[in-house]
Amino acid sequence: MGMRMPSFEVSMILVILTFLSLNKEGSTATFLDYYCSNTPTFTPNSTFQSNLAQLLSSLSSNARCKDGYYNNTVGENTADAVYGLFVCRGDLTVQDCVDCVAGGTQDLSLQYCVRGKQAVISYEECMLRYSDEYFFSNMNTQPSLYQLTKYNLSDPARFNQLLMATTNGLVSRVSNAGISGAKKFATKEANFTGSQILYTLEQCTPDISSSDCSKCIQEGITLMQECCSGYQGARIMFPSCRIRFELYQFYRMLNIVTN
Ligand SMILES: *[C@@H]1O[C@H](CO)[C@@H](O)[C@H](O)[C@H]1NC(C)=O
Ligand SMILES: *[C@@H]1O[C@H](CO)[C@@H](O)[C@H](O)[C@H]1NC(C)=O
Ligand SMILES: *[C@@H]1O[C@H](CO)[C@@H](O)[C@H](O)[C@H]1NC(C)=O
Ligand SMILES: *[C@@H]1O[C@H](CO)[C@@H](O)[C@H](O)[C@H]1NC(C)=O
Repeated sequence: MGMRMPSFEVSMILVILTFLSLNKEGSTATFLDYYCSNTPTFTPNSTFQSNLAQLLSSLSSNARCKDGYYNNTVGENTADAVYGLFVCRGDLTVQDCVDCVAGGTQDLSLQYCVRGKQAVISYEECMLRYSDEYFFSNMNTQPSLYQLTKYNLSDPARFNQLLMATTNGLVSRVSNAGISGAKKFATKEANFTGSQILYTLEQCTPDISSSDCSKCIQEGITLMQECCSGYQGARIMFPSCRIRFELYQFYRMLNIVTN
């Protein structure tokens, strides 16, 4: 791990390739990027491979979990243990989550990570991750991925101010959202111009603590300032959290937020 994921251009090529290949199988998820370890790898027909297959199948069959999150271990306390989880974007329907996770397990094992013992795959709708090392409850911001979605701002300085205020303002809401065991997910809108509204989304995997969620999102905001200044839309994806902002509504309004 510890590497930065491919850039936007590379990702766009992957998006197009994936779109073509996924169309065949009817998946509707929007592929963003993936990481697959070159080392360690597993050998074909090994116990690890069969544990991994069992893990991926359990992720797929538990994608109906009401909180859009599930983690599992296969081969616990053995040398071939594999740990894995998925998390779906907090506003999605159960069906969107099921489709994304099912497509993701297939993409990983058939296409993107045929031999790697560690992998992360990100879609707009969900993220899947597995590893031969225990990682639950550990906040992780590598590998990181960002994608810029649109460059065209009338007033970049003021936009940036509003973006910082809005994304920073959401941190305590997202990090405290999961205290009752539910999703660590929050969205917020802000008025940019009379006709343009800024939409922001922040989410952490529910296994990390509130303070780690807060740290993760803050790292995301720092990266966002480096990578994405001047853009009217971008995504930041870490294994433990994500941020997205756009000047259009890209998530479902689940409740009315007053402030
Ligand atoms: C793995 O097992 C399959 C069927 O069980 C077999 O066809 C294949 O040759 C095996 N591959 C290796 C590398 O042993
Ligand atoms: C799921 O993750 C939690 C930590 O968040 C861990 O305690 C638990 O053992 C994991 N469950 C499985 C089945 O691996
Ligand atoms: C850029 O934004 C302006 C208004 O802010 C709009 O009139 C124009 O069509 C936009 N251009 C593109 C390429 O989106
Ligand atoms: C956004 O700002 C415009 C003027 O700049 C105002 O007319 C409008 O009511 C504001 N909308 C919201 C939702 O605050």
